[in-house]
Amino acid sequence: MRTRHFVRGGLIGAWITAATVMAWGPRAGGPARAMAAPPDTVRDSLLVSDSIYQGWKWWHVYCYRCHGEDAMRPILPTAPDLRWAVSPAGANFPRDSFVNTAWNGRAAKGMPAWNVLLDSTAIQELYVYVKARSDGWLKPGRPHRLSDLESKNKSP
Ligand code: HEC
Repeated sequence: MRTRHFVRGGLIGAWITAATVMAWGPRAGGPARAMAAPPDTVRDSLLVSDSIYQGWKWWHVYCYRCHGEDAMRPILPTAPDLRWAVSPAGANFPRDSFVNTAWNGRAAKGMPAWNVLLDSTAIQELYVYVKARSDGWLKPGRPHRLSDLESKNKSP
């Protein structure tokens, strides 16, 4: 008899503990942090600065049709994968060479000059986007812009 009571008491105790943890879980701060891993510690691998976001936009207007969507799998066979071009493990193209090539193009080889359509800011943004894709932390797809998330969280 005593044992059965003890077991049931223990189960209820465990249930209350679990319920408390669950109720506290999603809230930021407070003692719940120490008890359960808060969901916001999972890194958003599409969260980017405004300039990388702009680079992603330029890319999918002007560059993807030869160099490939999401800066991978080039569509034009002679266009290199630019993730490889800027990677230390690949051609290790420094920022200046990237910017120069994008600016002036290589007409004879089928790479257009972009100085007619883009300004130097846009080309810098393209570089930081391609670099983020090359370094690997930015996953394929539409990135999440930090400033969008901040305005979304503001009350109307
Ligand atoms: C019409 C097809 C086409 C488009 C559109 C295009 N490229 Fe290219 N790009 C190429 C080709 C082809 C090469 C290779 C040229 C060569 O063989 O030297 C190249 C090479 C490059 C290189 C040099 C890479 C290396 O390793 O030599 C960079 C940087 C580059 N492109 C950036 C861009 C950017 C940024 C855009 C968009 C603004 C863009 N390209 C749009 C065809 C294209």
